[in-house]
Order: sequence, then structure tokens, then C-alpha cells
Amino acid sequence: MAILITGAGMIGSMTAWRLGQKGEKPVLYDMAPQHDFLSSFLDYGTAKVVTGDILDVPRLIDTIHSEKIDRIIHTAALATPEIRSRPFAAVTVNIGGAAAVMEAARLTGVKRVVLASTTAVYEGAATVPPGGYEEDYETRCLSNRQKWLYPVTKHAAEQIGLVYADAYGVDFIALRLCGAFGWWKGRPSGAGSAMLMHALVSGPALGRPVVLDDPWILKMFSAGKLDLLYAKDAGKALSLACFAPDLKQKVYNVSGGRFLDLGEIIAAVRKVIPGARITLSDRIAQSPSGPTVISDPVNITAARMGLGYEPDFDIENAVRDYCDWLRRSG
Ligand SMILES: NC(=O)c1ccc[n+]([C@@H]2O[C@H](COP(=O)([O-])OP(=O)(O)OC[C@H]3O[C@@H](n4cnc5c(N)ncnc54)[C@H](O)[C@@H]3O)[C@@H](O)[C@H]2O)c1
Repeated sequence: MAILITGAGMIGSMTAWRLGQKGEKPVLYDMAPQHDFLSSFLDYGTAKVVTGDILDVPRLIDTIHSEKIDRIIHTAALATPEIRSRPFAAVTVNIGGAAAVMEAARLTGVKRVVLASTTAVYEGAATVPPGGYEEDYETRCLSNRQKWLYPVTKHAAEQIGLVYADAYGVDFIALRLCGAFGWWKGRPSGAGSAMLMHALVSGPALGRPVVLDDPWILKMFSAGKLDLLYAKDAGKALSLACFAPDLKQKVYNVSGGRFLDLGEIIAAVRKVIPGARITLSDRIAQSPSGPTVISDPVNITAARMGLGYEPDFDIENAVRDYCDWLRRSG
């Protein structure tokens, strides 16, 4: 049997890579797959790439049947900057796409669906427990409501999955992933964390200086620190969630395990790339807008216990792997 991964972007492709390493057969499904990127590290003899729209339920069902799919990892979505300019498209793809995947799973009897959700949903949390945000968070649905469409659409996708689980018996797990970065072709256009790390590492990796002055990126540090997740670790967590038996809950936090300030991230880059020339703008405090950031770490105890998840990459190893990739891919 094979595993369908919707979305062949940064996280979907690293999930396919991870599953391939484990001897599984991943089938990526994306409306605009980047074949030159994917074929540079995926074995097209084992992995398969299907072109299709996530909203096309008959095509999803055909793919499930023809590729003998028994599990789905759903990553296809629109992320933050794109949502700003295309709000209706984001609502359609992120919420409608989750419903389309759950409906296709219901009609075909797929064994499990794993959703790539986000810790940005904690923008709606009213309190933070001492060990960091916990999955069953408390909110005040009006006075503490989410401010951006991105967490609203991802929260709605989670709720749709949970209702399909409760009402229709579809096995569903959501992983709330922290801001991720990793291998990607060119400058990432999605997550702020990927844009930040590309800005910080891509120049120095190739011997060029970098001036970090993009207000969108700098806004991420208005809350002080970030918990960065390497995309290969996101792929690891999603793969584990696909198969983990006897799960006690349906939603899990996944992070890189450490809350880092910008100085620590830059120090890791300088350790991997000695002599890296990085200049930081003093505009952090003035940045008017940016991606959703949460002010506290997330608690990943449940993922450790239930999924057996432990990040493989600390920030230094993640930067090293990313830097090697950037150098290899020019
Ligand atoms: N990157 C992060 O920091 C991060 C953090 C938390 C959660 N997530 C979630 O993880 C998932 C993957 O994120 P990513 O960074 O890999 O994003 P990405 O933008 O790199 O990949 C998303 C993919 O979805 C595809 N897609 C978009 N609309 C589609 C449609 N209508 N039909 C089929 N495919 C479509 C795009 O072509 C793209 O390849 C998303 O659901 C995102 O919300 C990402």
C-alpha cells in the first residue's frame, strides 16, 4: 500500500523523502509540482507525483484507488503572505481542501488522515500553562479570537477532521507544527520562518553578505523568540503520526524543542559558516506587519510519549544540513 501526501511543497516533499528512507511508497499530489526540485532527491522509481487540485474530490478518489492508498498526510494549503493577498483562495483551499480530503477518506475507507496544522492556532489561546501551550488550550472565543485568516483556516481544518473522526469514524490526527524551514527551490514564499532562514543562510552559504531588513521577517521577533522546526523533523513527525498505534489524543504539538532568539540563530549560522557577514536592521520594533507569531513555546510532551517523536536536528545541525543543500543546489 502507498501513502498519499497532498502538497509537494517544503514540508510535503520532506515527508516524502522521510517515508522513502523508511521503505514506504509516497505519492505526492499537488496542483503545481516542482519536478526539477523533487527529482533532485526523491527516487522516482519508488515515489510518485500526481498533478491535481485538492478541491477535486473525484480526482482524489481516483488517485486513492489507482495508487492503492491506505493513509493520507494532508499538507496542501496556502500560507501566510499569500493569504494576505488572496484571502478567499486561502479559505477555499485550506478549509475546502481539508473537507475534500476527509470526504475522500470517508468514501474510500482510508485507514488514517494526518493533517499538517500549525501552532499559529495558539494565537487564540487565553492562557499559557507553565510548560508552554498545550493542545487542549483555553480560549475566549470573542475577546481572544485569532486575528489572521491563516490560523482561522487551519483551526477550521482541524475541527473538520475531528468531526469526521467523531461522526463518520475516519481516523484523524492533526499535528500543530512550529514555523519550519528546509530544502526548497529558490526563495520560499510561504512561511515566515522559511523566509527568515533563507535570508540568513543562502547568502553566507555562497560567500555573499546579508542585510536582514525585511519588515515581514523581522516582525517574527516582536514576540522575542521562535521555536524553529527543521522540515525534515516535520516530515519525521508526520510520518510517525501516520502509523503510531493506540493514540490517546488526536492533536499534537511538534517543535524543534528549543525557543531561540535571533542572536542564537545567527550564532548557529556563524558557527556553521565561519566569517558569515550578517547585518541586522534596527527596525525590528517598528515592523508593522508579519506572520502570526506566538509568544511562548509549545509543550511537545504528548508527541514524545504518543508518537515517539524527538527532533533529529538542533538549530546548528539544521543550519548545516540546509547550508549543504544550498551549496549543492547552487
Ligand atoms: N512551513 C511552515 O512553517 C509551517 C508551519 C506550520 C504548519 N505548516 C503547514 O504545513 C503545510 C505545508 O506547508 P509548506 O511550508 O510545505 O507549504 P508550501 O507552500 O511549501 O507547500 C504547499 C503546497 O500546496 C500546494 N497547493 C496549494 N494549493 C493547492 C491546491 N488547490 N491543490 C493542490 N495543491 C495545492 C502548493 O502547490 C504547494 O506545493 C501547510 O498546510 C501549512 O499550513 C507549515
